[in-house]
Order: sequence, then C-alpha cells, then structure tokens
Amino acid sequence: MRKLTYFIACSIDGFIGDPSGDATSMYRFVNEEFLSFLKAEYPETVSAEGREALGFHDTRSQRFDTVIQGRSSYQLALDTGVTSPYALLREIVASRTLKESPDANVEVISEDLVGRVRELKAEQTDLGIWLCGGSQLAGELIDEVDELVIKTYPLVYGSGMPMFGSDFRAIEFTLDAVRTFDNGVLVRTYSRKR
Ligand SMILES: NC(=O)c1ccc[n+]([C@@H]2O[C@H](COP(=O)([O-])OP(=O)(O)OC[C@H]3O[C@@H](n4cnc5c(N)ncnc54)[C@H](OP(=O)(O)O)[C@@H]3O)[C@@H](O)[C@H]2O)c1
Repeated sequence: MRKLTYFIACSIDGFIGDPSGDATSMYRFVNEEFLSFLKAEYPETVSAEGREALGFHDTRSQRFDTVIQGRSSYQLALDTGVTSPYALLREIVASRTLKESPDANVEVISEDLVGRVRELKAEQTDLGIWLCGGSQLAGELIDEVDELVIKTYPLVYGSGMPMFGSDFRAIEFTLDAVRTFDNGVLVRTYSRKR
C-alpha cells in the first residue's frame, strides 16, 4: 500500500492557520533556503501560481502523484480563478456541494471518502498521496494517515485551526527525520505506528 502523507504547515502550537484557517502569517518564513528545500524535495506542493512566480518551471514531482483536499481549502484557489492549483498532480477534492468538477484535472468525491482513499492507497504507483488539508478533511481521514510531514514555523498562535478537526485520541507516531532551517523553521517527518 502506498502512503497517505499529511504534509502541512503549522505554528509551534499545532495550528494550521488562525481561527478562520488563514495561514498567511507563516509566509514570512519562506525564504531562499526554504524554497530550495521545497524545490528539491516537494516542488509539487507549491501551487501552480507559486511555481510560476518562483521559476519552478523545470521541476517534476518528487514525492506525490496525487493530492486530496477539502472543498474549503480548494475554494481558496477557486476564489482567485484557479481551478487546478496543483496541476503537477492528480487532484481530488472532497465535497458534497460541488455538483460537478470545475476542471478536467480535478475529481470530486462526494461520498465514501475513506473508501476512495483506500482505493487510491492500493494503486500500484511509485509516488504517494498528499493530504493537503484542511482541518476537517484531515480529521475525517485521521485513521488513514500513514505519515506526517510537519513544516513548523516559529510562531505561537494561542488558538487557531487545529491540524486535525477530530475528537481527542492519542495516536502514536515514530520520528523519522528532522530538518532545521536557519530562520527557525523545522520540518519533521513521522511514520505512523501500526
Ligand atoms: N497550513 C496549511 O498548510 C494548510 C493547508 C491546507 C488548508 N489550510 C487551511 O485550512 C482551511 C480550510 O480547512 P477546513 O477544515 O475549514 O476545511 P477543509 O477540510 O479544507 O474542507 C472542508 C470541506 O470538505 C468537504 N468534505 C469534508 N468531509 C467530506 C466527506 N466525508 N465527504 C465529502 N466532502 C467532505 C466539505 O465540502 P462541502 O462543504 O463542499 O460539502 C467540507 O465543507 C483554509 O482556511 C486553509 O487556509 C491550511
């Protein structure tokens, strides 16, 4: 089975954005060193708009061939007129309200979310599946998450949108790698203990 990886940007205290989900206060830490890391290891996680602006033209997916996100996260792209924000990937959006896909590259899942994710995990391909977020979708898929890649920015929010919008449980993960950046950003990779 290939992995479902929740690759996510967080504050030190584990929030993926302010109480409304807005994560723009994290952007100030995306400097040259961090961009080089993203370009080398996770270029497919930078939006089409971002790749264009940053000159990531010649990049190929390194880790993922599929992205899944909730409709509220996808809505941020739609609101700017972008229907395929992660065009290097097969894009999947969970939604019960989007009646049809706005883009040929986007599949909408309206029912049996977990069943569809299990089908995707069973596919025989070399690359993995990126769980983009947001909080609600991650909470619903928490049992399917095999790996966490947490980009932690040196900010404390006090309150905000949690990584997982789910009920309390203590789920164990093993730390596989920690990468530190000069500006205080950390990227930690964890595998799920099954
Ligand atoms: N820090 C980061 O790296 C990061 C990454 C991603 C997102 N975010 C933030 O997260 C925020 C959005 O998170 P969110 O928790 O509000 O929403 P979300 O998880 O992105 O999307 C929730 C929506 O997904 C659909 N959905 C959820 N479960 C479903 C199911 N079982 N079947 C079908 N559809 C389902 C529903 O769409 P319908 O209402 O259409 O039915 C639901 O309203 C944004 O503000 C974004 O900035 C941050």
